[in-house]
Amino acid sequence: MSRSFKLQNIPQLPPDPLFGLKARFTADNRSDKVDLGIGAYRDNNGKPWILPSVKLAENLIQNSNDYNHEYLPISGYESFTKSAAKVILGDNSRAINENRLISIQSLSGTGALHIVAKFLKDFYLLNDGTGEPPIIYLSKPTWANHIQIFEYMGLKVEFYPYWNNETKSLDLNGFLKSIELAPSGSVFLLHSTAHNPTGLDPKQDEWLKILNHLQKYNHLPLFDSAYQGFSSGSLSKDAWAVRTAVDDLQNLYTFPIIICQSFAKNVGMYGERVGAVHIILPRDTLPLPDLKLNNAILSQLSKIIRSELSNPPAYGAKIVSKILNTPQLFKQWEDDLITMSSRIMKMRKLLVDELILLKTPGDWSHIIEQQGMFSFTGLNVNQVKRLELQHGVYLVGSGRASIAGLNESNIKKVAKCIDEVVRFEY
Ligand code: LMR
Repeated sequence: MSRSFKLQNIPQLPPDPLFGLKARFTADNRSDKVDLGIGAYRDNNGKPWILPSVKLAENLIQNSNDYNHEYLPISGYESFTKSAAKVILGDNSRAINENRLISIQSLSGTGALHIVAKFLKDFYLLNDGTGEPPIIYLSKPTWANHIQIFEYMGLKVEFYPYWNNETKSLDLNGFLKSIELAPSGSVFLLHSTAHNPTGLDPKQDEWLKILNHLQKYNHLPLFDSAYQGFSSGSLSKDAWAVRTAVDDLQNLYTFPIIICQSFAKNVGMYGERVGAVHIILPRDTLPLPDLKLNNAILSQLSKIIRSELSNPPAYGAKIVSKILNTPQLFKQWEDDLITMSSRIMKMRKLLVDELILLKTPGDWSHIIEQQGMFSFTGLNVNQVKRLELQHGVYLVGSGRASIAGLNESNIKKVAKCIDEVVRFEY
């Protein structure tokens, strides 16, 4: 048997939609360019912001006697994973008290999703012996990387309706219908707060309908928690959907609930890749306290980590752990979240005020109602292109704007440019 390497046939892939945009922005030498592309918080001067809580934690870590860069265990820094679980589930979570939780450190949210995809593929199979993995249902639209993470792992991806472009609101009926129609035992990926890219979150009564429907039709909820604290400024308010599912509804579920948690955004350490996977077993799984099953699952997740990255990076996890376990730093972090979320809310309002002042055609009120880092502005792909080419204002092609890129110095310019591109096509 012979094999030849068809090097000439290796196709060039297009740039990643988000990092490609960042590269175009960096290469642009217009001095008044504006980056509303990638979801990373900027301060009122348009600069990356190192959170005061992070600076304090770094200081404590670097000045401590046991400061080092040794390997972490394969499953990560335990004081981080334990306290990270409390951030999303709450201090008095039933799941934690009842020993139904398995947590492991991941390379931020992407790494967490990857571990979960592999775990589902290996262990969440059809009962008919075909070994068929589950279908993953993603919101339409969703974060572009979701699709390729699951497809890369060989899972089938489908979509549930989410954003109604006419009304610029949630297509709840479409969402519920696809829960009804999905093959029993499917996985539904839910953005726990600050939906990326729309900035549109279900209201509490809508969440209840969605979560009850998932239980009724026998599907597994997989929460992606990448922006906790960015919607309301409050960690507990932004965890409402997750905590309701886990604490109030999970006694109805026969499936685990899985959470992929990222600290890239809410601690402002994008490049440090701090995250975790939390698997919460259903209440009737095992005669408690019997940790045999927890340990078996942890061993499988650890095998994935060991074969992919050996063991997770330590520095960022130590910083987050220090913040979460030092009351004064935790309080500072809560203040930092309010600083970031309230500046973003202010920018939403200022942008809409400017558009109203300019009498820009259309209704822009949805920008204020949306939550978190992003706004699905409603600008179409041609308008976005024109914003970039003519004006040096960079948005994702879908019309998603990272509101964190706005500040008091660029907001008038951005509003004027939006006004121009809207009128150009109007
Ligand atoms: C984004 O959506 O802009 C961020 O989550 C950055 C990324 O990794 O895509």
